[in-house]
Amino acid sequence: MDQEFDTVLVMDFGAQYAQLIARRVRECKVYSEIVPYDIPLEELKKKNPKGIIFSGGPSSVYQDGAPRPHPALLDLGIPILGICYGHQLLALSLGGEVSRTDRKEYGRTEMQVLEPGVLLSELPVEQVVWMSHGDSVTQAPDGFKVTARTRGSPVAVMEDTRRGFYGVQFHPEVVHTPHGMEVLKRFLYEACDCLPSWTMVSIIEKSVEDIREQVGNNKIICGLSGGVDSATAAVLVHKAVGDQLTCVFVDHGLLRKGEGEQVEDTFRRHFKINLIHIKAEERFLKRLHGVTDPEVKRKTIGEEFIRVFEEVADRLKDTSFLVQGTLYPDIIESGTRDAAKIKSHHNVGGLPEKMQFTLVEPLRLLFKDEVRAVGEELGLPEEIVWRQPFPGPGLAIRIIGEVTAEKLHILREADAIVTEEIKRAGLYRELWQSFAILPDIKTVGVMGDERTYAYPIVLRAVVSEDAMTADWARLPYEVLERISSRIIGEVAGVNRVAFDISSKPPATIEWE
Ligand code: XMP
Repeated sequence: MDQEFDTVLVMDFGAQYAQLIARRVRECKVYSEIVPYDIPLEELKKKNPKGIIFSGGPSSVYQDGAPRPHPALLDLGIPILGICYGHQLLALSLGGEVSRTDRKEYGRTEMQVLEPGVLLSELPVEQVVWMSHGDSVTQAPDGFKVTARTRGSPVAVMEDTRRGFYGVQFHPEVVHTPHGMEVLKRFLYEACDCLPSWTMVSIIEKSVEDIREQVGNNKIICGLSGGVDSATAAVLVHKAVGDQLTCVFVDHGLLRKGEGEQVEDTFRRHFKINLIHIKAEERFLKRLHGVTDPEVKRKTIGEEFIRVFEEVADRLKDTSFLVQGTLYPDIIESGTRDAAKIKSHHNVGGLPEKMQFTLVEPLRLLFKDEVRAVGEELGLPEEIVWRQPFPGPGLAIRIIGEVTAEKLHILREADAIVTEEIKRAGLYRELWQSFAILPDIKTVGVMGDERTYAYPIVLRAVVSEDAMTADWARLPYEVLERISSRIIGEVAGVNRVAFDISSKPPATIEWE
């Protein structure tokens, strides 16, 4: 991609914010990749970067073994922006001073601009920035101008425009630095001379070209899950190679209400994509008969899924390529850009290695928000583009105990009401997930003059950034009230609704 787009590399010194910096750079329409701080110089040069950003990091520059970049990096003539630890590293490497002052700065900090220079031009003289550091640059290296300071950082911003070196002690990438994006833009557009050409249209054009080149005249299959990643990948591949693509949608009968029809509508009817829709509910239910342990459920569903997929693949013997919806964060986390293996254990929908497909990963350079933007640009419906995450084993892990057709029906109807009401309240996109759970108990209630003995439904709604941690959502009472009365009134077999107010940890998002 480096040939078509200007590239700015984010050099990762162990920052929790490296991904965020790369995302912000891309929001400025400049393509950005994260590289480890010890990347060999030759490899870095091959990426042809127009600029490099040194991220922050947890170390002190004086600590033994503190990460440092290749010393020759500073002689390449490529503009560099150091952030926090990166700022200190730049100062120290070029002959400045970094000291452990007694004034640590954490959080919102007032900064005073001394002269605008490149990074701070046209920005207010007094502004708030977000800091998080112990050490401070106390003396800028020769050739640098100090352009801003705070009470704890005499060199809060410095620049040497002749050599193209810039350093900021604060974090421009976080939303708590109100002018942070402007600072980043000045570095990208002024200091690095980048063009804002990483746009959705150009991403799509380039991906289409790449897919055509990789796939040639061969046939390719794509498993659809109903989620945004596989949907976007499928539509991109279809745009590139048309009827060479066949999509396979294994409906294990554990999906949410209306999902199957929506896949049909979108892919077969709207996009005119070859679609094999396997309706396998009975098969899965048979395998799940008597299974109550959550991990056995997952394993059973995973194995059956693979079996069904293999049967389809057997019918498509002349197909040699397989679409995989891998995203950029998966690649950063696994540390291998060319991960060519399919991890069958990692999810339902993971396929066994013995299926000898060559992988096509059209989303491998994209963050989730970019995938959504590409999906929207390609004309995928809003319900798919903005669908909340849904586990591969589906409703089976939201039915506590044995999964039966009756319980699936109850849960599916209740879940549809939850989604409808959450959407109606305008909360759907801000919640990470909101859904219903069917526990394996019955409770007593009274309807009319009749005693009832029926299931409760548990409502779960969480906010989260990445599902690693989550907090229960403070839903308005009116929304809770509407969900509860609708579920009890409309779903036969339910007489009570409870709301789960546990955070993760110690609970998890799903109940199984
Ligand atoms: P937990 O319940 O572990 O869930 O807090 C974290 C996120 O992962 C999803 N999840 C799964 N996704 N297969 C999946 O594809 C699974 O077996 C599975 N279990 C949990 C869950 O919905 C949440 O977004």
